[in-house]
Amino acid sequence: MNKFVEKESDFSNMVNARLSRRGFLMGTAAAGVGAFLALNPVAEAIAGNMNSALLNFEAIPTSTSDSIVLPKGYSWNTLMSWGDPIFANAPKFNPNGKQDSKAQALQFGDNTDGMSVFSLSNDRAILAVNNEYTNYEFLFAHQGKEMTADDVAKAQAAVGITIVEIVRKNGQWMMDSAGKANRRITANTEMEVTGPAAGHDLLKTKADPTGKKVLGTFNNCANGETPWGTYLTCEENFNDFFGSEQNAELTPDDKRYGIKAEQSDYQWHNFDDRFDVAKNPNEPNRFGWVVEIDPNDPTSTPLKRTALGRFKHENAALVVNDDGHVVVYLGDDERGEHLYKFVSKDKYQEGNNATNRNLLEEGTLYVAKFTMKDDKLEGEGQWLELTYGKNGLTKESGFNSQAEVMIFARRAATQVGATTMDRPEWVAVHPDKKHVFCTLTNNKYRGVKEGQDVDGVNPRAENHYGQIVRWESTNGDHVSDTFQWDLYLIAGNPTVHKDNLYAGSDNINKDNMFNSPDGIGFDKAGRLWIQTDGNYSNKGDFAGQGNNQMLCGDPNTGEIRRFLTGPIGCEITGLTFSEDQKTMFVGVQHPSGHFPQGGNSKPRSTIVMVTKDNGSVIGS
Ligand code: FEO
Ligand code: CA
Ligand code: CA
Repeated sequence: MNKFVEKESDFSNMVNARLSRRGFLMGTAAAGVGAFLALNPVAEAIAGNMNSALLNFEAIPTSTSDSIVLPKGYSWNTLMSWGDPIFANAPKFNPNGKQDSKAQALQFGDNTDGMSVFSLSNDRAILAVNNEYTNYEFLFAHQGKEMTADDVAKAQAAVGITIVEIVRKNGQWMMDSAGKANRRITANTEMEVTGPAAGHDLLKTKADPTGKKVLGTFNNCANGETPWGTYLTCEENFNDFFGSEQNAELTPDDKRYGIKAEQSDYQWHNFDDRFDVAKNPNEPNRFGWVVEIDPNDPTSTPLKRTALGRFKHENAALVVNDDGHVVVYLGDDERGEHLYKFVSKDKYQEGNNATNRNLLEEGTLYVAKFTMKDDKLEGEGQWLELTYGKNGLTKESGFNSQAEVMIFARRAATQVGATTMDRPEWVAVHPDKKHVFCTLTNNKYRGVKEGQDVDGVNPRAENHYGQIVRWESTNGDHVSDTFQWDLYLIAGNPTVHKDNLYAGSDNINKDNMFNSPDGIGFDKAGRLWIQTDGNYSNKGDFAGQGNNQMLCGDPNTGEIRRFLTGPIGCEITGLTFSEDQKTMFVGVQHPSGHFPQGGNSKPRSTIVMVTKDNGSVIGS
């Protein structure tokens, strides 16, 4: 045991002496005078009531089966699986792994992740969905062992975004291969760079001396959407797609973003020089951004929004502040990285979308610093501005421009003293537009690596269960540079651990426990849907937790119930609803058994649709 872990035990003892597990959440709720609840009259009114008025379904047990399981009265269907043709002229999926790049470019991409529905009418909508990465063991008959140039082109066509129109017939949504909006955006689609880093020397390459025209997007993890009708897709582990067989001089910044000059699993650099960091050292700087896409116009050019910073973006949770500023909350999913907030320079103008379309081009980026109050797992927070010339972001500390602050946002965050977090994944804003939630999925380095000491918001060493933090900006103003926070839940295993924080917070019990919360989103009624991407061994610390799953939380009472369990090997990720909230779209990523077709079929990443048998709103 190292000194950090010892320190954590002291901390846990201290916390547990002060607060029983019940004391933590219930104490805050029952008193109704906690900093958080005092700001929330709705929560105050029903605080302490564990018979949630929001959760109207019977919780289901865990599962290790190779299927989807739902509560009584619910059913599921598949919308699309990897390889399904999305154009009338596209070839049908062939499971033999021998279809070429041209076929894949006309089919649904692999590894479905974040997605949004844009309603066109009652029974027609556009679905934009991320295809995060691809599984060579299923993509190719040779499983990636005998790659060719066309195989790399096929892998590049299997990632990015899929946009399709969906129609509802007889109460059932389906993909419309004749939809006018249907489009594939891949690792080779031309994009424009906008904002402070556009045209900077660090973004220039031999193929693009302007530093403003980038080909493609990949490792598109989760997403966001804007009130002006655009889709936001977030570039996460882009580093995995770069490599080299040659010696390349990597900078400390390259290393912090995980860039390596070695053989990469995807092998793109062997056939496409763009991905060889020895030959094109600036190409990785052109990834790690949030990309804004107009899903209505299949000829539109996607825009990389550099004002939102470069890091391993998880999702983009946008809220229009009362004063009209657009605020976007952003997680950087890496152990010990940070949580960010973007505030637009200009204000949203209802109905003036020509102007609104530029709101993400210019603004201010901030990074969060959390402080704990009175040894409790709650406290105050500060948003630290990442603007060149402020907070020590100067030439003396190695920054020469706002462009550099954005390109190396991680280093800027360290410079200003941001809190290192347990892997910030999705952020979601409650429909009251005041309360914001973020999943901190897990972090085996907490309390182990220097700079990642245990603290109030990341309260456990070697945290392999995760937690969800929530905050409210001071006076409900998202532009304010201070906020109040607490932990909505601490995931854990109360059947393995007793009387310490590894058992989880008081709203976690043997019937609803899980690990590694990742995707989260609210429905219109304020139910918090929680998806997991964790350890599904069902053994040891994870005994009794089963396959990855989706739960539903009542943010007012703290109650959590399991709603869905996924098939073997998958993570559940990606969540959106039809406009009437009667169909829920859920992503099943990288299943490893035989989902969804069963038998001896090849597993395929799939979007499933959940409906209630009586046709009413999901969760109601
Ligand atoms: Fe793509 Fe952090 O999940
Ligand atoms: Ca995720
Ligand atoms: Ca995850």
